[in-house]
Amino acid sequence: MILFKRSTDLSKWLNQETASGKSIGFVPTMGALHPGHISLITISKMETDTTVCSIFVNPTQFNDPKDFQKYPKTLEKDIALLEAAGVDVLFLPAVSELYPAGTANLEHYDLGLLETLLEGKYRPGHFQGVCQVMFRLLSVVRPDHLFMGQKDYQQCMVVQRLLTLMSLPVQLHRCPIVREADGLAMSSRNVRLNPAQRAKATAIYSALLLLSSQFRVVPTTALVAAGAILKEADFHIDYISVADSATLEPVSDPMNGAAMVALIAAFQGEVRLIDNMIL
Ligand code: PAJ
Repeated sequence: MILFKRSTDLSKWLNQETASGKSIGFVPTMGALHPGHISLITISKMETDTTVCSIFVNPTQFNDPKDFQKYPKTLEKDIALLEAAGVDVLFLPAVSELYPAGTANLEHYDLGLLETLLEGKYRPGHFQGVCQVMFRLLSVVRPDHLFMGQKDYQQCMVVQRLLTLMSLPVQLHRCPIVREADGLAMSSRNVRLNPAQRAKATAIYSALLLLSSQFRVVPTTALVAAGAILKEADFHIDYISVADSATLEPVSDPMNGAAMVALIAAFQGEVRLIDNMIL
């Protein structure tokens, strides 16, 4: 695995790869890697010739400064995991490398309803930050294929919109959610849960399963019951939504045939967890 810290060095190296006809796959991350991240790398390696992974904790996407400060950092372990997974290139830029003019007054993207619904509503500015960093990373790596997790369902939609807005010729692959044995979606934030909180955190998966089996039959009752499961486990709920999977607008008529996704965001103590399930 080759490690690059400078964009120009990485671009130069990747130009040679592309010139020799190789396809480039890209897996952007913020580190604190777990098997969910590694699954994206495995898929990229199956689909492309050269896999690039980035680790960059992007300051512009944290609407809560405490969350940014507390974001887990496990670089040595991450490097070992990436090497074992067979990543070709690790891009590890400093903040000044991606934001040479600082992080104030950055560009703004028109994200439409994605900006105000669900994560957009509860994390103002978050998706602008995701677009700001993704545009910079994509401009350096210029991948053919981009691999991202369904775990962050709305983020996948936002990035697809960015690709369209900026006419970037990149194919986005939305990859399945990797879960712990008890159903909790893997997340870098899970390490911040204490053992009691970790045990209660599985309630999110139970609530999603309930929505998956009951929403079509008794929509309102199912939403109430899903909320009760979360409250029983001491979750503070930001949202529980069953939404049109193409627009993320709440489903009013589950029988109209539109594909649906159930999405949850809730706090267990200070730790905010998100998860979803396509119904
Ligand atoms: P991060 O949270 O590190 O996630 C990196 C990628 O891993 C994302 O595409 C995310 O959806 C995926 N992922 C996380 N948990 C997963 C799981 N349990 N199963 C499958 N995939 C999972 O998302 C970000 O970083 C950042 O916002 C980023 C896109 C890197 C921009 O800064």
